[in-house]
Amino acid sequence: MTTPFSTLIRTASHQQHTEAESSGFMTDLLGGRLGVDAYARYTEQLWFVYRALEEGAEALRTDLVAGPFIRPELFRTAALEQDLAHLRGPGWRAGVSPLPATTAYADRVASCAREWPAGYVAHHYTRYLGDLSGGQIIRDRAERTWGFARKGDGVRFYVFDDIANPAAFKRGYRELLDAVHADDLEKQRIVDECKRAFDYNGAMFRELADEFPMSA
Ligand code: HEM
Repeated sequence: MTTPFSTLIRTASHQQHTEAESSGFMTDLLGGRLGVDAYARYTEQLWFVYRALEEGAEALRTDLVAGPFIRPELFRTAALEQDLAHLRGPGWRAGVSPLPATTAYADRVASCAREWPAGYVAHHYTRYLGDLSGGQIIRDRAERTWGFARKGDGVRFYVFDDIANPAAFKRGYRELLDAVHADDLEKQRIVDECKRAFDYNGAMFRELADEFPMSA
């Protein structure tokens, strides 16, 4: 019996996941050692990444490979915009700027969306399945550290209002991965792109850590 693709991609990225979880920026954030400014700066970076993910989504809706993954209940851009308005004030758009690693990340997502739907799936998986999982831990910590209302402004990014049962949703998502329209070679390329996606996140965390040095 061959290993299901959802298992393959999770196993292949396990090591990098551990590294992401234990990165200096994440541990400082989760340890309550950073100010709300660092959290806001991180949220800004996510806005650039999700814009790339979701601006690319519309054209992929009917794509054989990426289409099944495009689910509006996952979209995060509007939630991020509400959070940023809360964190930075109504004029937030004038003040946001991507870190170099964020620009590289968002550019890669956009280019996959345009040219390589299977690569887009790798980015989709890396972000959304993570948000549905560890994202909930981050939300809980953010609410406690900076006093946001539970599931309210500031942490709306982590709240999936239209997904009543995240565990069931994740099971369905893994079934989509298992059925992805790709041969073995293309599946291997998706795994490689997932590893790249983790690398981009790691680079973003490093640049955030440089801006908010704490665990040094
Ligand atoms: C401190 C930060 C993080 C924590 C505490 C965390 C925690 C978790 C946990 C507990 C799960 C398991 C959920 C389950 O088995 O259903 C998970 C899954 C996942 N996380 Fe994270 N995570 C963090 C950061 C990240 C980052 C930065 C990424 C990538 C951008 C990421 C991507 C993923 C993915 C893709 C999964 C799904 C794995 C799978 O079942 O296929 N996580 N995370």
